[in-house]
Amino acid sequence: MNITRIGTGNMGSALARQLATAGHRLVITGRDTAKAQALARSVGAVARERGAADGAEVVIVATGYADAVAALSAAGDLAGTVIIDITNPLTADYTGLTLGHTTSAAEEIQTAFPQARVVKAFNTVFAQVLAAGPTLGGATVPVYFAGDDLAAKATVRAASRTRATSNRSPDSTSTSATARATARRSRRPGWASSRREPPHLDRLD
Ligand SMILES: NC(=O)c1ccc[n+]([C@@H]2O[C@H](COP(=O)([O-])OP(=O)(O)OC[C@H]3O[C@@H](n4cnc5c(N)ncnc54)[C@H](OP(=O)(O)O)[C@@H]3O)[C@@H](O)[C@H]2O)c1
Repeated sequence: MNITRIGTGNMGSALARQLATAGHRLVITGRDTAKAQALARSVGAVARERGAADGAEVVIVATGYADAVAALSAAGDLAGTVIIDITNPLTADYTGLTLGHTTSAAEEIQTAFPQARVVKAFNTVFAQVLAAGPTLGGATVPVYFAGDDLAAKATVRAASRTRATSNRSPDSTSTSATARATARRSRRPGWASSRREPPHLDRLD
């Protein structure tokens, strides 16, 4: 799969390593070109400064939530592209959310890019866990994802499964109540808006 990853920090580096290991064609971009080039070299990917999203089926935004829209805007034309939003819009002291309960980071990003297809994923996995690989303590690390576009979710499922869970069956789609409960448990917002169709949450393990 052609995947563009924005951001070269903790999550961006861990994701780059796992996605490259899984055989995806990876383009890495960031606001610091030297960092993007170094990361790309270390995982066998390509670094691109302009038009990073050109030809990408999936763009993963691995910046802080506050930087996500600007970073995505700089990546190029995102019409039809699946955006994976991994952000947690946390307050500076990590004790609360800067938005949530009536809307979510993914919904706000979807509003900013109405022609893209936003899926929330990877935000419940710590960077250190992601960097270490698909298992933790002998169990496969679950990747939860949520969104309204079934085809986009299928794309994210494929990207995630080739990373870690290619030989395991996914659980069935579950309900919005589960999505909200999971978001509360992890202190991360899921799709919790009543303005939309009931959201879906999938768990891969
Ligand atoms: N860390 C975790 O365990 C974890 C787990 C789940 C989800 N998350 C979420 O994942 C996201 C990234 O977390 P992190 O720990 O990887 O943070 P981080 O290490 O601070 O990395 C953030 C990256 O975003 C880049 N960036 C900022 N503004 C940008 C822009 N306009 N264009 C391009 N790149 C830009 C930064 O560039 P510079 O290098 O130039 O500063 C940096 O590489 C956050 O939203 C966080 O909530 C984190």
